[in-house]
Amino acid sequence: MESTILMTSFVAFVLFFVIRHIWRSNPIGRRHNTQRLPPGRMGWPLLGETSSYLKPHLATTPGRFMEQHISRYGKIFKTHLFGHPTVVSADPELNNFILQNEGRLFECNYPSSMAGILGQWSMLFVVGDMHKHMRSIALKFMSNTKLRSHILQEIHSHALYTLKSWRDKQLVSAQAEAKKYTFNLMARQIMSCNPWEPQTEYLMREYFSFMKGVVSAPLNLPGTTYRRALKSRATILEILRKKMEERSESDINHEDLLSTVMEEGSLSTEQILDLILNLLFAGHETSSIALTLAIYFLAGSPESMKRLRSEHLGIVRVKERPEMDSCPNWEDYKRMQFTQCVINETLRLGNVVRFVHRKALQNVQFKGFEIPAGWKVLPVFDAVHLDSTVYENPMEFYPWRWQNVESGTYFTPFGGGPRLCTGVELAKVEIAVFLHHLVLHYGWELVESDVPLVFPFVEFEKGLQIRLHLLDDNN
Ligand code: HEM
Repeated sequence: MESTILMTSFVAFVLFFVIRHIWRSNPIGRRHNTQRLPPGRMGWPLLGETSSYLKPHLATTPGRFMEQHISRYGKIFKTHLFGHPTVVSADPELNNFILQNEGRLFECNYPSSMAGILGQWSMLFVVGDMHKHMRSIALKFMSNTKLRSHILQEIHSHALYTLKSWRDKQLVSAQAEAKKYTFNLMARQIMSCNPWEPQTEYLMREYFSFMKGVVSAPLNLPGTTYRRALKSRATILEILRKKMEERSESDINHEDLLSTVMEEGSLSTEQILDLILNLLFAGHETSSIALTLAIYFLAGSPESMKRLRSEHLGIVRVKERPEMDSCPNWEDYKRMQFTQCVINETLRLGNVVRFVHRKALQNVQFKGFEIPAGWKVLPVFDAVHLDSTVYENPMEFYPWRWQNVESGTYFTPFGGGPRLCTGVELAKVEIAVFLHHLVLHYGWELVESDVPLVFPFVEFEKGLQIRLHLLDDNN
């Protein structure tokens, strides 16, 4: 009897330590000084508060979830998102601190479900030396020298190609047109595809189907968006693989990313394919919605439109032989200063990339709170860009605010630190040159009321239909 009691006590004792060990090794159970965790609630078991956080809302607001949580708990709060205990930050200083400490205190940490569709070698998933290496390839591909020497000319041709296709139309979907323009441009830069080739059109359709899988539930079942997206991914990779085979058997020198990475020779075929697909994704989705947002905001701000048109007319009229369709050179681009204000204001108010995914690599103390090691950390950019303590009248589209350099202090539309977007300048040139030709050739207004919504990508529900007015040279 006594030995049974002893045995039971021993088993209970061991069990206690085993359970305690498992609980502590789990990030949510690790012992913290709970007084110092940020305030907040963890929501439903396993699901947490993810569905409330991702509820569609107007892109020019931080959304109800953020508004309610900030007013209840402050700008730094805890919750449970994407399957993990999470610290959410709407605090501009913490956001900058997180971005600057990438690889030291924090690390990029996108949901693993996205790797199934974007690929395990996507730049969103690689860390350490592999990330540095892929980043250096992406930076070389989009260097300022290349932008000046030939990408600017390509951008100009693609902008005119799109705008000329509007000649006989009175109504267009600005969103669909912006998507075509940025897709064609990226496909040209990455693998020398021309917009008039049937394969480019086919690739674009497959790419749009692939894109839908990035934000859909990762259910690989017949009929699901995710299943269709995986099929499209396989089709696109097959096309790319064939291109790689053709190039390895030919001497023709293509000045594009595909040839550059193949010649460089440091990446495997799988890595090249994921990198290419990733750049297509990173460079297309963001710039197209930014351009659509600019067209939308300008339609609602006649003063900004007037100022913008006068800047671009000025750039053309000082030329010896002024021509509306001539390609702006790098000096012209640098003179588009109000245009840069319009782009900044569009990105501030429209918030194309609303937040990024990170995780804490160790316990981090900030403003009296502890962010526990292993927890997910979400710097939310839109909450800062739309914060009235950071920007005066934040809901107003007012490009002139960017004439004051201080506006940029907490402005992070392109992220920051070691993962700062490698396409910052390319995106700005793409938008600026398109706007240059657009305001010189057309006036426009919205056909019907339409607003940008967060799904979580920003999108116009009705595609932003605009009515065009062709301008004559005296306008
Ligand atoms: C308005 C347009 C754009 C916006 C708002 C934007 C925004 C961003 C943001 C916020 C990040 C940081 C992601 C993170 O830290 O987790 C990022 C990364 C990146 N972007 Fe962009 N982007 C834009 C255009 C482009 C373009 C045109 C390209 C060119 C292909 C591009 C390529 C990349 C790449 C390769 C990364 C990963 C950088 C790294 O991990 O080191 N982006 N972008």
